Amino acid sequence: MALFSRHHIWYPYTDMNQWDSSTIKIITRGRGFYLIDSKGRQYLDGVASMWCNVWGHGEKEIIREMKNQINSLQHSSLFSLANKPSIELSVELLKLSKGMEHVFYTDNGSTAIEVAMKMALQYYKNRGRPEKRHFVSLQNGYHGDTFGAMSVGYVPRYFSAYRTLLTKVTRLPSPSMMLGEPLFELDEILEETESCIKKISAKTCAIVMESGAQIAGGIKIYPQGYQKKIAKLARKYGVLLILDEIATGFGRLGNMIEYLKQDSVPDIVCFGKALTAGYTPLAVTLTNSEIFRSFLDSKAKLYHGHTYCGHPIGCATAIANLKLYRKRGLIRDISLKSRFIRKRLYELQNSPAVSNVRHEGMLAGLDISNQGIDAIKKRTGEPVDSFIFKNALHSGVYLRPLEKTIVLIPPLAIDRKNLEYLLSVVGLIIEKVERLL
Ligand SMILES: Cc1ncc(COP(=O)(O)O)c(C=O)c1O
Repeated sequence: MALFSRHHIWYPYTDMNQWDSSTIKIITRGRGFYLIDSKGRQYLDGVASMWCNVWGHGEKEIIREMKNQINSLQHSSLFSLANKPSIELSVELLKLSKGMEHVFYTDNGSTAIEVAMKMALQYYKNRGRPEKRHFVSLQNGYHGDTFGAMSVGYVPRYFSAYRTLLTKVTRLPSPSMMLGEPLFELDEILEETESCIKKISAKTCAIVMESGAQIAGGIKIYPQGYQKKIAKLARKYGVLLILDEIATGFGRLGNMIEYLKQDSVPDIVCFGKALTAGYTPLAVTLTNSEIFRSFLDSKAKLYHGHTYCGHPIGCATAIANLKLYRKRGLIRDISLKSRFIRKRLYELQNSPAVSNVRHEGMLAGLDISNQGIDAIKKRTGEPVDSFIFKNALHSGVYLRPLEKTIVLIPPLAIDRKNLEYLLSVVGLIIEKVERLL
């Protein structure tokens, strides 16, 4: 089976030359916060299965609702038809998302961003301002892998091969908070941001940015007040604000709806990942009545739709998931765990093997110091990311670093014992680097 995994499957974000069939783990089961491979070995899921898992694997209350839905309606599209779970979920989402009044369904985060961009572009056309078609985004932003999303979340090391097909986007500087350190450059960043927006507002339809923090761009946590100020600038200069909460919403940073915490109601917001607890693909793009009304007023259609828009099983899963958030008080539980994570990170940040520690809620990033990277390379011959990955796996933890950054992004409901284990394995990796210095 391992051999076929190389011959038949083309893996995402993977140099297939380095896909080693003999060491690859084939995951056959999930139990609690662990993934179990074909040889029965188990790995603590330290990246929440690409940042989406909430309750761990095999959560019975959600599976029961999924089964109920499978038994009654497996799929029926939203093209000229409606279905009950998508209606019920839209009501739930709009109750949570102040300022939003309409829900558009897709099945992954990247397409939720495409929809947001199409809404913004067409909104200004509907209102007789077709020249407003330029997008602005943040440096280090990431919004997915489709063409619109790559344009606004351009990461050169990933996307340079596709550049000729990407639309031109203006990129604003993005701030990043380190653990326990003030950010002195914030005023400068905001000044530069305002002068840039002012200059190009007449031709710009929207600013697109992650809400609360950037994850794929290197775990960059916004300082207090930054996002609120961007929202104010967007209003002041007549530009829409599109917030991407695909990775940061639903508790990752400690808040159900991150833009409410940041006091920055957007015109359009996207959710995905944790929306279904990581059990089925589903994403949404929410918007306000002004944008929706512009389509009614100009008798325009939003030409976007996927086979699985409003998928009933996905929506039923999301409803069950939201019910559990309330029933188990997940957001409160996260705030307690977040304090524990912070305390441990303060201890780890003193190591000479570590630099730039960032943390918020259930998200943390620690960079291996330059000294540490050099020592790993010199003494083991390995690149830093593969050193981290292999050492974590050896201790029974699945981590996926972003180059030199150890990323902690566990299932949101992870229990204290497993969280302690996860942090202790990070500590062991750091000690191992220290010994190489
Ligand atoms: C902030 C953000 N936006 C969009 C996406 C794209 O989501 P998907 O992988 O579901 O297409 C991601 C994925 O990691 C993300 O982190």
